[in-house]
Amino acid sequence: MFQKTTPLALVAALAGITLAAGCSRDDAPPPATADAPAAQEAEIARDPREAEVLSGAEYLALPRFANADMQRGERVFLQCRACHTLGEGEPHRPAGPNLWGMFGSVAAEREGFSYSDALRNSGVVWTPATMEEWLVRPSSFVPGNRMAFAGIRREEDRTNLIAYLISETTPATAD
Ligand code: HEC
Repeated sequence: MFQKTTPLALVAALAGITLAAGCSRDDAPPPATADAPAAQEAEIARDPREAEVLSGAEYLALPRFANADMQRGERVFLQCRACHTLGEGEPHRPAGPNLWGMFGSVAAEREGFSYSDALRNSGVVWTPATMEEWLVRPSSFVPGNRMAFAGIRREEDRTNLIAYLISETTPATAD
């Protein structure tokens, strides 16, 4: 945790300086925090392996997940559970697809679920990096998609949730 928050805090501070210098108060975007998009891009860019297709075990070995708390991630998943199942062979919910095996796969590929054209044509491959962006604000990452979910504000919540999702939906870590 300490390893990760220090550089992030630095990025947030730098973003704050840029804002203060470049924008008048009225048209400035919301205050820069560790959750600001600039900070996330920096975070994602710092470890390019997050954007690669790896096994579940390899993803979970990345530094970003070193302090991930699966139990907390499971609690964050309560926000998703009404619409998504995770386990192998579980049915889709009426409101959202089953997510087994999604890491490393192309978006909107699950058979038997009727996706939006927006998600089907997005060309997104799910990795921790794309999942991170999706969970910040799905409507920004894939405009016009049909997932009725605003996003998860806290980076820590997203990290814990993504680690939990990897562990629950990826064959390599299921044994
Ligand atoms: C209100 C229901 C709802 C909630 C809550 C919800 N989702 Fe979704 N989700 C959907 C729908 C519907 C889609 C398909 C969107 C489309 O086709 O545009 C989707 C798609 C997805 C996809 C892409 C699946 C694929 O096959 O490519 C992922 C990943 C995902 N959701 C993760 C989550 C996570 C994680 C949460 C909780 C933080 C969550 N969703 C919360 C309804 C929901």
